[in-house]
Amino acid sequence: MAYQVILPAAGQGKRMGAGKNKLLLELNGIPVLIHTLKVFEEDELCDGMILAVHPQDFEEFNVLLKKYNIHKVTGLVPGGKERQYSIYNALKTVTNGSIILVHDAARPFIRKEQIHRLIETAKKTGAAIIGVPAKDTMKKVQVGTVVETVERSSLWAVQTPQAFRISLLLEAYQKAEMERFVGTDDSSLVERLGHPVAIVEGDYDNIKLTTPEDLYFAEAILKKRQAPGTL
Ligand code: CTP
Ligand code: MG
Repeated sequence: MAYQVILPAAGQGKRMGAGKNKLLLELNGIPVLIHTLKVFEEDELCDGMILAVHPQDFEEFNVLLKKYNIHKVTGLVPGGKERQYSIYNALKTVTNGSIILVHDAARPFIRKEQIHRLIETAKKTGAAIIGVPAKDTMKKVQVGTVVETVERSSLWAVQTPQAFRISLLLEAYQKAEMERFVGTDDSSLVERLGHPVAIVEGDYDNIKLTTPEDLYFAEAILKKRQAPGTL
């Protein structure tokens, strides 16, 4: 089933500390942004991409889209102060279609097969997210002291993409806006509607580039994909 994707790309990359948007950093000589966009450009089910972009990056992003022959971008919208506002700006411009994906531009390693599994689930349930079971033991801590060891088998680390029926995601965003709720992902807004959200098991290598050491992991993942079996 065809889908459109919103790619929030309007952050500042403060934790990466590169002095510019981390999406402009290069892996194998290609900007992180382009690595991510290529996945959707090459996915036959992707009907269009809407990018939320910080005004200071508009010009550079446009140059990159041309240089790397990215044709599926249907809109560039200005980002907001928070990720959620960036996505809402993009969501408001969606006028047709039935399934929308939200995917962090900072997660360049998402695979097409996973996107398709997610879409299939969202088609049935209205809302589906991708994630992986927690590997570490998790503890709840308050002021430097452990208060509880949380049962690990019920904990998942959640990633993007997250896929929704468009009308459902719009309703979730409208409610969040009205109630001034700001969540850390899109699913949390849908959960507040009382709508069930399905989880699809993804890959541990679908990392978000957040801090400088993530660039080392990224290089290793790229190397492995280019020469499978060497790591
Ligand atoms: N993002 C966005 N608008 C914002 C903040 C973030 O579109 N106001 C995007 C980022 O560009 C990124 C994704 O949301 O693709 C996930 O955010 P994050 O990893 O936090 O990136 P940054 O906000 O850029 O990084 P930091 O929080 O370290 O400044
Ligand atoms: Mg951020």
